[in-house]
Amino acid sequence: MAARLVRRWCLSPLQVVGFPVVQLHTSRTMRASQKDFENAMNQVKLLKKDPGNEVKLKLYALYKQATEGPCNMPKPGMLDFINKAKWDAWNAIGSLPKETARKNYVDLVSSLSPSSESSGRVDKEPGSESVVITSEDGITKIMLNRPAQKNAITIQMYQEILSALEATSKDDNSVITVLTGNGDYYSSGNDLTNFTNLPPGGIEEVAKTGSILLRDFVDCFIDFPKPLIAVVNGPAVGIAVTLLGLFDAVYASDRATFHTPFTQLGQTAEGCSSYTFPKIMGPAKAIEMLIFGKKLTAHEACAQGLVTEVFPDSTFQKEVWARLKAYAKLPPNAMRISKELIRHNEKEKLHAVNAEESTALQGRWLSEECMNAIINFLSRKSKL
Ligand code: COA
Repeated sequence: MAARLVRRWCLSPLQVVGFPVVQLHTSRTMRASQKDFENAMNQVKLLKKDPGNEVKLKLYALYKQATEGPCNMPKPGMLDFINKAKWDAWNAIGSLPKETARKNYVDLVSSLSPSSESSGRVDKEPGSESVVITSEDGITKIMLNRPAQKNAITIQMYQEILSALEATSKDDNSVITVLTGNGDYYSSGNDLTNFTNLPPGGIEEVAKTGSILLRDFVDCFIDFPKPLIAVVNGPAVGIAVTLLGLFDAVYASDRATFHTPFTQLGQTAEGCSSYTFPKIMGPAKAIEMLIFGKKLTAHEACAQGLVTEVFPDSTFQKEVWARLKAYAKLPPNAMRISKELIRHNEKEKLHAVNAEESTALQGRWLSEECMNAIINFLSRKSKL
């Protein structure tokens, strides 16, 4: 989210790019000169690390107040998420004098000096990818790699996972495919900022292309011909949970939880879960999860058949990967044919369910219920 906001604000004084950091001249006096203010503006551009949305909104608001005075712009529409968050931040400052805003801006920038930057959280190592694909011992590992965002899945990540699945399905050296997460989460599901980068066609276009991408993405899991394993290293939310019904085995750390807060978000189930979950756990339990958003522990999910086995977190990685390495040595063709026998009767039904769920979501994404829920989530950290 932060990175996307930075991109969207690239013409504002909040531009954050990876230039070397230079020492900032800080003002500890009661006033900040115009020169201090200009230095601070330059310093913002030199920050190595994204300071986060909350700080960027504060900086934006103080900058506008310092240069233009109180906000008297018309309030942007509710679907114009980014400009609305910026407007809210500026408007919240009220009638703060320009000079005070200038000093607060300078002080805030000085608090983002290299020493405080170095204690900040790092999203990912330079050069690392949001989806990391590795192959070893017949196992293709697809690892979600946005630990700072709890491995929320961006549009680009959906596309990368889809391409990886297509490639590995044809790779003779790949016997087993694993999806897992880096860091403390397996995945927090769909990245809710996927809805904020509005193309010229507006939210309708986002909903339409999103629905097509979702359908293609889930179709790929339905058709995947080889053993597909989820290594659920931590909490899973939304589509990271619903897809599990399409995996051949789900191994979970006892730290993992399983949560599908669709109704709270004004959304509906996807990943074929409206069909697979009632089959796996019975309609009553499925409804508690998919409609009422009940969060399951790993042991509860295992008792209900969604998870194959739960491992203590302390030995999770060691035990699971040892087991997978042994499975990857089994005859691949026998595994593939067995999977086809077990799965093929359901495929047509699953594709139909997927199409229906994707269409329903396209409508939901345009609903006021959904918009309000997403705005609430996105503005959660933007409150000044
Ligand atoms: N979409 C976009 N950003 C997400 C995200 C998601 N699904 N999940 C987490 N993030 C971001 C947060 O906004 C935050 O970003 P920031 O540091 O730039 O502010 C960062 O990841 C860390 O999350 P945070 O909320 O601070 O961690 P937490 O431990 O308090 O809570 C969650 C973790 C997953 C419970 C919470 O982030 C959440 O509820 N996310 C939304 C989950 C969701 O509704 N998914 C869609 C289901 S359909």
